[in-house]
Amino acid sequence: MKLPFFDLKRQYRNIQEEIDEAVNRVVKSGMYIGGVEVEQLEHEAAAYTQVRHAVGISSGTDALLAALMALGVGDGDEVVTSPFTFIATAEVVSFLGARPVFVDVEEGTFNIDPGLIEEKLTKKTKCIVPVHLFGHMADMHRIAEIADRYAIPVVEDAAQAIGAAIGERRACSFGIAGCLSFFPSKNLGAFGDGGMVLTNSDEVAQNIRVIKEHGSAVRYYHARIGFNGRLDALQAAVLRVKLAYLDQWAQLRMEHAAEYNARLKPFVTVPVLRDGYSHVYHQYSILAYKRDELAAHLQARGVPTAIYYPVPLHLQEVFGYLGYRKGDFPVSESLCDRIISLPIFPEMTAEERTQVIEGVSSFYDGSSAGSS
Ligand SMILES: Cc1ncc(COP(=O)(O)O)c(C=O)c1O
Repeated sequence: MKLPFFDLKRQYRNIQEEIDEAVNRVVKSGMYIGGVEVEQLEHEAAAYTQVRHAVGISSGTDALLAALMALGVGDGDEVVTSPFTFIATAEVVSFLGARPVFVDVEEGTFNIDPGLIEEKLTKKTKCIVPVHLFGHMADMHRIAEIADRYAIPVVEDAAQAIGAAIGERRACSFGIAGCLSFFPSKNLGAFGDGGMVLTNSDEVAQNIRVIKEHGSAVRYYHARIGFNGRLDALQAAVLRVKLAYLDQWAQLRMEHAAEYNARLKPFVTVPVLRDGYSHVYHQYSILAYKRDELAAHLQARGVPTAIYYPVPLHLQEVFGYLGYRKGDFPVSESLCDRIISLPIFPEMTAEERTQVIEGVSSFYDGSSAGSS
């Protein structure tokens, strides 16, 4: 049987009535941008992430862009972030004329290594952007301690981590702002692009509201440069339905991950779950010996895989101008060669999960080296 990597049609079928009702409500309302659905979603998402303000935005990328603009990031500034992430995290920095300054990641969590941040801070550092990769949060307590000492704001890239927590505190509640993506395949996915900025700061929230509205607080009066960064009502209505299921879905992801962990541990390096953290397993990513051969073996057995990410950002062509070289961030570079993500989604059946596990174990059975 050929498995999907994730299955959004299956998810839709499970909640079809509620989604259809929400979509019809918007279609009939004649209010397609902003309005009550977006406002309600903002209230609900703020409560869910335990922050005071939520501002719906057109995508996760635009959420990061608006957050950095609200903090005044621009020409000549530096923004410290991870090289082992999706391009958007650093792309928005360059887009604003600032310079991404990379800090290598921890081998275990794949997240920025707090022990390496301080040496990269300069007078120009305007912001630190940790990424909560794959659904496991970066070490926000240590990052906040450093950032506070230098009075540098932190923006959390929580695009992959809605619902993740350290203790009782959820992603997006640690930094001056947290950014979410509602790209369809995310744990909370829209029916198109969508994103959100969460913040406890009245000032940042107000700035972001203005920025995503072409820099205007009052219609047709423009106080600053902004852009069209609005979330549309159809996406908000769909997201409101799905938000109510998010914890339940996260629980299912955790159960799949627990089974993978137990059965794959003899063969590969399974994802780290730090004490006191909750992981929402947006991706289930392992480090695997002979990774590319494993991918081919799984493919032949109907199990799709993905490589997040094949090239670290400091070695991407677009960032050549930053002057980084191979060897600058050895952990990230090594992860890119060994990492592979297996199918994980709430609706995955026990049989599908077993097919993945048997696919991996059959590759290593009889081989001497277990993990990478
Ligand atoms: C870590 C990270 N940051 C930012 C983004 C950008 O989000 P979007 O695709 O909604 O623009 C993504 C998602 O794709 C992501 O995974």
